Amino acid sequence: MFHAVLKGIGSYLPEKILTNDDLSKMVETNDAWITERTGIKQRYIAAEGEKTSDLAYQSAVLALENAGMKAQDIDLIVLATTSPDESFPATAVKVQAMLGNTTGFAFDVQAVCSGFLYALSVANSMIRDGSVKTALVIGAETISRLVDWTDRGTCVLFGDGAGAIVLARSEEEKADGVLDVLLYSDGRHYDSLKTSGGISSTQTTGFIQMQGQEVYKQAVHCLSNAGKVILEKNGLTSENVDYFVPHQANVRIIDSVMKKLGIPENKTILTLDKVGNTSASSIPIALDDGFKSGKIKKGDLLLLVAMGGGFTWGSCLLRY
Ligand code: UT7
Repeated sequence: MFHAVLKGIGSYLPEKILTNDDLSKMVETNDAWITERTGIKQRYIAAEGEKTSDLAYQSAVLALENAGMKAQDIDLIVLATTSPDESFPATAVKVQAMLGNTTGFAFDVQAVCSGFLYALSVANSMIRDGSVKTALVIGAETISRLVDWTDRGTCVLFGDGAGAIVLARSEEEKADGVLDVLLYSDGRHYDSLKTSGGISSTQTTGFIQMQGQEVYKQAVHCLSNAGKVILEKNGLTSENVDYFVPHQANVRIIDSVMKKLGIPENKTILTLDKVGNTSASSIPIALDDGFKSGKIKKGDLLLLVAMGGGFTWGSCLLRY
């Protein structure tokens, strides 16, 4: 059995920053409410003409550079996104061409805010079963294009960005890297967080609609449960975790999950204040921040958890 180890990481944020004060000029809101209720202070918004593929490409270049690898070294590209450039083909194949990769294959994965964990799970499985040796796993979103800028209940939450990791096969018997991934979904909650339209229903993209309190309640439950189960399954406790890297949607959700799991704040990576909820990009952006800030070190055990529309959710244990 092979293992998938982390070889490189990168993230990319668009230039334009939208602050809470900027938003207070667009809808009836204010910095105090957004900060207190969500923990978000600002988010990044893609420039006109800047697409999900552009953000994905930038983060992928940085991840490859960090791994010391070339695009042609990559066998598989999995891109998690809710905001593809076009309805089809997959944005991943555009990124493949932008990178100049002609030897691998590429496809998108759609699981909204849990998308990165779903993509990571696919790449991990294909490396473990020997189908591929290397994989680029990307989370990239221009989710701001799905935002209804008149809806103060949702427009203050989301931001654009991308993050990517390079995974590679290790044949060592007891290798570090991806130790386990758990995925879940419950389609009975389809309507709790969705867009108001889509290709097959309205032939438009629609805008984000969310039953905020319902999502909040379920997020605390799903995230803490996914974290607890994966630790138990692997004979570990929260004391073994060096860094907790949760999906960044609301600081109050993260606080509750930390308390339920018994993980202290100084072991949690938080980027939400700077980038908002970047959907599928949220975990790789936070991970990259953990590395860049010098917090995450070789040998550290990382617990990743995510939850999003569907509902979809999951967890991952990764030893760096
Ligand atoms: O990434 C996928 C997962 N997504 C999430 O996890 C998001 C989960 N949900 C949440 O984070 C929270 O539910 C929100 C941040 C979206 C909302 O916070 P809340 O504490 O649940 O607020 P609420 O919806 O209960 O609204 C409380 C009040 C309402 O006013 P009234 O009816 O009490 O007068 C809202 O109209 O706050 C009002 N409100 C706002 N006020 C100022 C709602 N949005 C805003 C706003 N600025 N932006």
